[in-house]
Amino acid sequence: PVVSRSYHPNVVDHYDNPRNVGSFDKSDPNVGTGLVGAPQCGDVMKLQVKFDGSGQIIDAKFKTFGCGSAIAASSLLNGSRDNPWKKQIAKHLSLPPVKLLCSMLAEDAIKAAVKNYKQKQAEANSETVEA
Ligand code: FES
Ligand code: FES
Repeated sequence: PVVSRSYHPNVVDHYDNPRNVGSFDKSDPNVGTGLVGAPQCGDVMKLQVKFDGSGQIIDAKFKTFGCGSAIAASSLLNGSRDNPWKKQIAKHLSLPPVKLLCSMLAEDAIKAAVKNYKQKQAEANSETVEA
């Protein structure tokens, strides 16, 4: 018999109505940009985080050229930025095993965005020292 598997309502909700789609100005020193690709399917996700002066994330935006699971994961990531999001995403969305890599794309994207922000900060600080 053919086993059909439907997506968890949370996936459909975030796919239909993704939160925080869009982008920030990349040159803003308080914005970190993460651009990652999924080698297994070629999809791409851009995720940006905005920090306040004290290093707290205050906002996030994303654009995902990917499947529904990846869009849902990036949307959820933005919505849960104050929570320990790492393990939550896949659990909350109850993704089938084959789609777990799609949700990990969101995790990689936010790591890359935070790294980009830290690099920018480090560069800005060294410029201040030199000046
Ligand atoms: Fe089809 Fe990613 S492989 S959307
Ligand atoms: Fe490519 Fe999901 S199939 S991100």
